[in-house]
Amino acid sequence: MREGSHLIVLPFPGQGHITPMSQFCKRLASKGLKLTLVLVSDKPSPPYKTEHDSITVFPISNGFQEGEEPLQDLDDYMERVETSIKNTLPKLVEDMKLSGNPPRAIVYDSTMPWLLDVAHSYGLSGAVFFTQPWLVTAIYYHVFKGSFSVPSTKYGHSTLASFPSFPMLTANDLPSFLCESSSYPNILRIVVDQLSNIDRVDLVLCNTFDTLEEKLLKWVQSLWPVLNIGPTVPSIYLDKRLSEDKNYGFSLFNAKVVECMEWLNSKEPNSVVYLSFGSLVILKEDQMLELAAGLKQSGRFFLWVVRETETHKIPRNYVEEIGEKGLIVSWSPQLDVLAHKSIGCFLTHCGWNSTLEGLSLGVPMIGMPHWTDQPTNAKFMQDVWKVGVRVKAEGDGFVRREEIVRTVGEVMEGEKGKEIRKNAEKWKVLAQEAVSEGGSSDKSINEFVSMFC
Ligand code: UDX
Repeated sequence: MREGSHLIVLPFPGQGHITPMSQFCKRLASKGLKLTLVLVSDKPSPPYKTEHDSITVFPISNGFQEGEEPLQDLDDYMERVETSIKNTLPKLVEDMKLSGNPPRAIVYDSTMPWLLDVAHSYGLSGAVFFTQPWLVTAIYYHVFKGSFSVPSTKYGHSTLASFPSFPMLTANDLPSFLCESSSYPNILRIVVDQLSNIDRVDLVLCNTFDTLEEKLLKWVQSLWPVLNIGPTVPSIYLDKRLSEDKNYGFSLFNAKVVECMEWLNSKEPNSVVYLSFGSLVILKEDQMLELAAGLKQSGRFFLWVVRETETHKIPRNYVEEIGEKGLIVSWSPQLDVLAHKSIGCFLTHCGWNSTLEGLSLGVPMIGMPHWTDQPTNAKFMQDVWKVGVRVKAEGDGFVRREEIVRTVGEVMEGEKGKEIRKNAEKWKVLAQEAVSEGGSSDKSINEFVSMFC
């Protein structure tokens, strides 16, 4: 193998996209590739090397001036990001050529399909990277092709949707933008546009693994050159549940993190509910109050991530009232937490990274999806992989405290809880096998690497 072939990797600027694509970079670097990870940022800085010598991070501007509020208008944001990338890439590619390390391909986020033509204009291959599973991409593909017309509203709609290799889906299981198309027309366009040029891409990468979406894989492989390369969860998390070792093994080492892990260390195995809603979901104030009440009523220990911007919605005196029963933090080292033996279940919004992380670490889940691909991920989590349950919401989407108490009980005790735990263990082993040497994702990554070395 020729060492040091060089690729450009370009995630969409969001936690749920940067994390899996940068983890993928680390896998590629460990197999001999050089990577330049271009990060669109509101505070661009000079390029720097990571702890992996073969990865250079190249931060570029998102096209907004300091003081401007970037996310007021999504179309404007996407346009400015596109302009900034298109302005930056020519010099970056030129510099890479001059340094004797010309790039061979651009690995780009599926939400920026125009990067395919940019790659081709430099004579580079274009590999699209999907940070969502096939079960979601396949639905968007049918919408793009016009072979599935969506119900205009999800409430009170009993339509069942049927897709090849899928269980029957109700409107409630479909990606939210499809049924609520009028509320987020520009997001709907972006997610469907991901498929606009897929028939021309040189390679399609997806953060999933073969056995997880076995039937669908056959179908997508009959259409495109697909390689499943996930889960992108680093292997140190996949092969052990963390012990009470004080060297927790994570890099984000600060007082809050230590507090979080020490709190978990003091708890019995499988006794804690961990809750996180990812980097974007905003719960309404009454929903936060209800969730807080449900957690208290469940009588369980819980570790709850509430982002700084959301903390004002926590009920007054709540922290004092729950005392040792609960710990609220503004950010957690999620993989370390999920790998901790005290965690008994994960109450999640079912963002794809969180779902895959819970599944790969064998943690039973409670799905409380909010929007985008989350309802579909929750459907598969509950009914296909059977590693958890989804909360039942009222007609307007509101989840009552009794439902929190019921689902926590169902997942953490009784016969159903045991069954879920058994399935969670099974999927953990399969996920681990996929990325271990000789596993399906490992082989796909090797195949990918061999194309450029
Ligand atoms: C979004 C969408 O919700 C998701 O469905 C889509 O597939 C990708 O973009 P996000 O909502 O942020 O992502 O959720 P998720 O995909 O779960 O990603 C969140 C990431 O942040 C996870 O990797 C998680 O481990 C990490 N995280 C979250 C932490 O490390 N600490 C936290 O406290 C919370």
